[in-house]
Amino acid sequence: DWVMRDHVAEAVQKIREQVGDEEVILGLSGGVDSSVAAALIHRAIGDQLTCVFVDHGLLRLNEGDMVMEMFEGKLNAKVIRVDASELFLGQLAGVTDPEKKRKIIGGLFVDVFKAEAAKLKAAGNGVKGATFLAQGTIYPDVIESGGAKSKKAVTIKSHHNVGGLPEQLGLKLLEPLRDLFKDEVRELGVALGLPHDMVYRHPFPGPGLGVRILGEVKPEYAKLLQRADAIFIEELRSTIDPISGKSWYDLTSQAFTVFLPVKSVGVMGDGRTYDYVVALRAVCTSDFMTADWAELPYSLLKRVSGRIINEVRGINRVTYDVSSKPPATIEWE
Ligand code: XMP
Repeated sequence: DWVMRDHVAEAVQKIREQVGDEEVILGLSGGVDSSVAAALIHRAIGDQLTCVFVDHGLLRLNEGDMVMEMFEGKLNAKVIRVDASELFLGQLAGVTDPEKKRKIIGGLFVDVFKAEAAKLKAAGNGVKGATFLAQGTIYPDVIESGGAKSKKAVTIKSHHNVGGLPEQLGLKLLEPLRDLFKDEVRELGVALGLPHDMVYRHPFPGPGLGVRILGEVKPEYAKLLQRADAIFIEELRSTIDPISGKSWYDLTSQAFTVFLPVKSVGVMGDGRTYDYVVALRAVCTSDFMTADWAELPYSLLKRVSGRIINEVRGINRVTYDVSSKPPATIEWE
């Protein structure tokens, strides 16, 4: 609509004024906020923007390729893909504590990003290297980090935001989404030509599958989980609720699969199996502080379970999580 088009034009103008002829780097994660920020900044300054996409090997199935296809392929943006999965999985070997896993993943993220920024600077990409760091910070993030008073005394889960990164890198901050709420960010994304499915995605945590594999993260577990989760998401997207006309993906706020490093006995053909278990998690919530488990249709659960067990060799049991938040959290770690 024309209001959004005006908004795009205004935002583009503002970015051009702020950046001038300098260079910008941005950490692309595949999430909604960094994607919309990247598309907007690219619209404004084209090749003065370099996106750095750190692939930690704990993304959803084919996600890395999809990010590249969209930003490099369709938008023609400069994107450096760093395949750091060996580094991340190596450092995570033997670590079982959820908070330790978060710290390791968050820390490595910053290290890899910094190294990439330094490389770009050394290569003299453009004239003098990047002088701006762009981030997809949105208005609710600003409130959350500004309101020290409202900070809970107990950290239940440490979310890894890259606070302090611009100072450490000696870069100025560019945050073109700072004044926007999530739904405005989504509308902006659509106006910029990003696909509806990308812009209306469920949130995905920074540590990715690292907190959806309980306990130690192993490459073998990640591969099984990626495939099981892709089946769940595919079925949620393709199953339409006849009453609302919406897909079950759109009717839920967040849905995903959790890998349980537990083996259980099953039977397949004339043989006995002894394989891993996954849990399906789907919640409805407006603020993610409280959440109800989603009353998915049995027929949908049945199809997902049948497909995962048949198609993903190594998983022989599927469970559905019927816990609300509180007292359970949305993620299992
Ligand atoms: P919980 O599990 O605390 O999740 O009920 C609430 C929301 O936060 C997301 N989440 C995270 N996001 N880094 C993130 O960027 C994290 O470490 C993290 N832990 C949880 C979770 O996916 C849900 O949307």
